[in-house]
Amino acid sequence: MQPSTILVTGGAGFIGSHLVKRLAREGHNVVIVDNFNDYYEPALKEARINTFLKDVTFNVERVDIADYDALKNVFEKYAIDYISHQAAQAGVRYSIDAPLVYGQSNLIGTLNILQLAREFEVRGITLASSSSVYGDAQTFPLKESHMSDEPISLYAATKRSTELLAHAYHHLYNIPITCLRYFTVYGPWGRPDMAIFKFTKAALEGTPIDIYGHGEMGRDFTYIDDIIDGITRAIEKNPAWEIINLGCGKPERLMNFISSIETHTNKTIEKNMLPMQPGDVKETWADISHAQDVLGWNPVTRLDEGIKQFVNWYENGYQA
Ligand SMILES: NC(=O)c1ccc[n+]([C@@H]2O[C@H](COP(=O)([O-])OP(=O)(O)OC[C@H]3O[C@@H](n4cnc5c(N)ncnc54)[C@H](O)[C@@H]3O)[C@@H](O)[C@H]2O)c1
Repeated sequence: MQPSTILVTGGAGFIGSHLVKRLAREGHNVVIVDNFNDYYEPALKEARINTFLKDVTFNVERVDIADYDALKNVFEKYAIDYISHQAAQAGVRYSIDAPLVYGQSNLIGTLNILQLAREFEVRGITLASSSSVYGDAQTFPLKESHMSDEPISLYAATKRSTELLAHAYHHLYNIPITCLRYFTVYGPWGRPDMAIFKFTKAALEGTPIDIYGHGEMGRDFTYIDDIIDGITRAIEKNPAWEIINLGCGKPERLMNFISSIETHTNKTIEKNMLPMQPGDVKETWADISHAQDVLGWNPVTRLDEGIKQFVNWYENGYQA
């Protein structure tokens, strides 16, 4: 792909920062928009920018995507060819406490991105969606054609809504858009509110962990490098309109995931077994045949190897 000016919203975030690294290394002119909010420690976002991304060049604009005028200034400043929209208020559990934050960042923010993409005639958009749109599904694996209109969390409702907004913009203004439904992404520089981070921290600090659903949960964990490979393929391919699962395609039992963390930290974790939490789904399991067909994408990282990479970063990068 020709070097382009690519806007990565949420570029100080976990997935966004890995994407910035990859795109900048490929020679693209990358512009980050991020508001560095304090949903989790802003110092980690700053460290992604200053440490993780120190060997690549890019521009950073500290802007809230819900602020249309401020965001428009960014589009006026740079001739943006393409947008990879990763910024969002993430997290299922927090959406129960703070639904209005999700309305601002995920709904208004995404609408602003789509509207500015239209006004400034960008070449295409990838949009971060989520496996949570499938709700409490009972049949697996989950294909993109599976029902996705009965979300069981506010977070999922906003993610599905952004897909619908995107479709309308694609249909009306011919903007190529690919919505990528990520399945539990993990890896170095990950989010502190996610299970792998909390469990690794607890293992190393010798504190107990809460396990919901009495541990009877399955998750399709997807390693960050595989996700980035999927996103960059979608950027290069730039299909007119697609919704595509990016998952590993091999669900893992939660208890096996925890025992792999115990192996790599060389610790035994004390576990509090608790009932399911509102908004959480019991299982996720992606059918990834559409990603294979459209993008030629295949995840290659085994869970055990990915956990090893995460624990290594946590001990030698994050803690240091
Ligand atoms: N990590 C996962 O497992 C996962 C799974 C499914 C979907 N997703 C989606 O992928 C995307 C990236 O997730 P992540 O795990 O990297 O989360 P993250 O919280 O690390 O990254 C999101 C970034 O967006 C920024 N942001 C949030 N609201 C903003 C706003 N209003 N204006 C500007 N910047 C804002 C945050 O500061 C943060 O740096 C999100 O859209 C998320 O919903 C993530």
